[in-house]
Amino acid sequence: MADRRIFTLSQVAQHKSNKDCWLVINGRVLNVTKFLEEHPGGEEVLIELAGKDATKEFDAIGHSKAAQNLLLKYQVGVLQGYAVSEVDSKDVTLEESNKREMSAFVIKDDAVSKSPDFLQFFVPFLIASFYFGYRCLTRAVDIA
Ligand code: HEM
Repeated sequence: MADRRIFTLSQVAQHKSNKDCWLVINGRVLNVTKFLEEHPGGEEVLIELAGKDATKEFDAIGHSKAAQNLLLKYQVGVLQGYAVSEVDSKDVTLEESNKREMSAFVIKDDAVSKSPDFLQFFVPFLIASFYFGYRCLTRAVDIA
């Protein structure tokens, strides 16, 4: 469950360095210090907005539902005067958005690994068949 402590904007403004970076998005107060290096859009944009309300900038990018649900992971509280819901989107859960975050760094090789299994058996078998077929034919010609 996301943290619901109440902060004012001036309290958030005290956390504006790359070692301690907070921002506000849609009324959620987020500690994104650990996310800086992971952010696909780069850490500079987050540091530039550190200590501020970054809702407009966040929305302007058109962040995915998975990105919106990631907000819950970094929430440390709520901005004074805001009522925020627990989940932004019903179609993507926090667990799923974590999986999506990971899948960006995983190279899927399932499709590649299935065909070599089949080829490993079939290609030598095909070559052997051709060889014995050829030997039988040439012998038959010799005998004749
Ligand atoms: C805690 C807050 C934020 C989270 C969790 C977050 C997460 C993400 C994620 C997951 C992506 C990959 C694309 C996607 O899934 O939409 C992304 C891309 C990006 N984000 Fe953020 N973001 C945050 C805040 C911001 C802010 C405040 C800005 C300010 C401008 C920003 C700018 C960008 C940019 C420029 C991209 C690259 C878009 C592209 O190359 O298509 N992000 N972000």
